[in-house]
Amino acid sequence: MDFMPRAGGFVSLVGAGPGDPELLTLRALRVMQRADVVLYDHLVAPALVDLARHDAERIYVGKECDNHALGQDSINALMVRLAREGKRVVRLKGGDPFIFGRGGEEIEALAAQGVSFEVVPGVTAAAGAAAYAGIPLTHRDYAQTCVLVTGHLKQGAVDLDWRSIARPRQTIAVYMGVGALEAICQGLVAHGLAPDLPAALVEKATLPEQRVIEGTLASLPEAAAAAAVKPPALLIVGEVVRLRDRLAWFESQTAASAA
Ligand SMILES: C[S@@+](CC[C@H](N)C(=O)[O-])C[C@H]1O[C@@H](n2cnc3c(N)ncnc32)[C@H](O)[C@@H]1O
Repeated sequence: MDFMPRAGGFVSLVGAGPGDPELLTLRALRVMQRADVVLYDHLVAPALVDLARHDAERIYVGKECDNHALGQDSINALMVRLAREGKRVVRLKGGDPFIFGRGGEEIEALAAQGVSFEVVPGVTAAAGAAAYAGIPLTHRDYAQTCVLVTGHLKQGAVDLDWRSIARPRQTIAVYMGVGALEAICQGLVAHGLAPDLPAALVEKATLPEQRVIEGTLASLPEAAAAAAVKPPALLIVGEVVRLRDRLAWFESQTAASAA
């Protein structure tokens, strides 16, 4: 189905998935191949940006921790301007645009200016990391619920609703948690979770360079420091991490294809 208007400017807010270009949706691919301009973020793989039409303009606007190519207001203003020039704009964001991606804020700005838009969902990092690490986020025997939280520091402190996340039979997926890993693990133990609860950090999930550092709430911070884990990485905490022993598949496939 083709929802994209043929005349007038239009913005497609598109989720690019966690890294593996093959996780892009067919809809996202179609929208990208029609775009006049692609605005893309830091975490979007270059191979994905290459899928745009060869004559499409590509603009890097991406935010890397302290290195913002453009501020949020400037990105919003740029999308509005390009759409008003009649362009078909793709705003390509890592993972899913509505999960810790400020996608909601971006389309609020478009709506406020009367710019037409659509949202194309993407595979979020938690889903990609869990699948490629062999860690089901829910499992009848281990976890009935899963919460997605951000470990981003707010004024130097982890700002989490500890009571709602430190619960039994619940998997916790923490985005942006590398910098505050130790504080997060300590906070979860302080709020009742067992120090030997399994936890894993999935670095560069879904990409050939993916690494999975496993441990417990007590041991993971040291293991991650020893392995020099860097963002992007996703923290998964819960009994489900035990399943990786039996369900890991990606590393063996990557090793086999490299051999
Ligand atoms: C600003 S958030 C954006 C999340 C994105 N909107 C999504 O749905 O996945 C960035 C965080 O997502 C996680 N992330 C994104 N891509 C990842 C990847 N390939 N491997 C591991 N974590 C990833 C990391 O925790 C990273 O710090």
